[in-house]
Amino acid sequence: MSHQTILVTGGAGYIGSHACVELLQAGFNVAVVDNLGNSKYESLRRVQQITGKTLTFYQADIRDKAALTEIFAKESPSTVMHFAGLKAVGESCEKPLLYYNNNVYGTMILLEVMDESNVRQLVFSSSATVYGQTSLTQYSEDFPLGPINPYGRSKAMIEDILRDLSASDKINPNRSPWKVALLRYFNPIGAHESGLIGEDPNGIPNNLMPYVAQVAIGKLPQLSVFGDDYPTPDGTGIRDYIHVVDLVKGHINAITALNSDAFKDGGCKAYNLGAGKGYSVLEIIAAFESVTGQKINYKISPRRAGDLAEYFANPALAFKELNWKVEKSLNDIVADTWNWQSKNPQGYN
Ligand code: NAD
Ligand code: WQD
Repeated sequence: MSHQTILVTGGAGYIGSHACVELLQAGFNVAVVDNLGNSKYESLRRVQQITGKTLTFYQADIRDKAALTEIFAKESPSTVMHFAGLKAVGESCEKPLLYYNNNVYGTMILLEVMDESNVRQLVFSSSATVYGQTSLTQYSEDFPLGPINPYGRSKAMIEDILRDLSASDKINPNRSPWKVALLRYFNPIGAHESGLIGEDPNGIPNNLMPYVAQVAIGKLPQLSVFGDDYPTPDGTGIRDYIHVVDLVKGHINAITALNSDAFKDGGCKAYNLGAGKGYSVLEIIAAFESVTGQKINYKISPRRAGDLAEYFANPALAFKELNWKVEKSLNDIVADTWNWQSKNPQGYN
């Protein structure tokens, strides 16, 4: 295991940088491919500072087939962890072509290069956003898919492509089979406990946790709570928040599973990565206030278009087959977010 190289696309980003830390600490070699479109090399410098180990960085776009082909030839990775993608729901509604080009076409090129390089083992960053709306609030992997925005559809399309690819193994018995884990993240938040790496959104954050953190530090004046008239106990939206370090540990376990007998004949399988429990917006604010001692200034605002009242993961399959569950509490998440935010008020700048 120790000499396996993992090629990490999007490794300079929020989740990818945390994955690089866990991979290096687990003894893997790491090669990162990132165009730095939504990240800075500084995150990877700090990954190396945290671990005392080095990784190889390629500034390249996954849509650049010639560059990728060369990188695969140099690195001979055993597995690809594919984080590279654009992820802002609102922006995807404004610029769907950009999202389909970057996420779907970009993944197509990556898969072509993997196939041509005989590297058919992949851990893919999918999202709970691929699920359709049902009357149930706890999502299992076998629920029908039905994303409601271009970002979510780009993830569902990629999942479809990967299922088709895996199904094509049967009629291509002379090549090694595809082994694919589709990891459907719920709401990743938090930061590495060192406070050296964390989420560094560009401009005004779209998501709750970075917004709250910037209000706490005085960078933003006030949080808008999007709706307090949902059918939930306190009226605000409920989500399954998962510590980013727990999340990336699930990826290491996924590699172990893909390398095991369970996947010896190939396969493409989806796993929820979530805590299995939800918290409301007001509970998040209260946790932040109690851990940091800072008052969070907020006002109740209208609902945000496209938001659901409540959903959270059924993480039983990941527990059973990946031997994985979350270990960190909401207080850990908040403390680590605050540690990162207060040590790096300007992010990586
Ligand atoms: P991020 O933006 O911090 O990281 C993505 C990285 O990919 C960035 O470093 C960016 O520069 C790079 N990238 C984007 N397009 C690229 C391209 N064409 N070529 C090379 N590099 C490219 O986002 P993140 O939060 O770390 O998310 C990582 C993955 O997880 C994404 O695929 C995202 O859709 C998925 N995901 C994220 C969340 C979340 O809430 N953060 C939830 C579910 C799924
Ligand atoms: C959480 C809760 C808001 C901001 C998004 C993507 C999803 C996935 C994860 C990638 C909701 C409320 C938020 C604010 C608020 N990403 N809120 N004020 O929307 O659950 O998920 O990130 O795959 O696809 O949609 O996360 O953090 O934006 O919102 O009241 O300023 O906080 O209404 O109830 P969301 P979020």
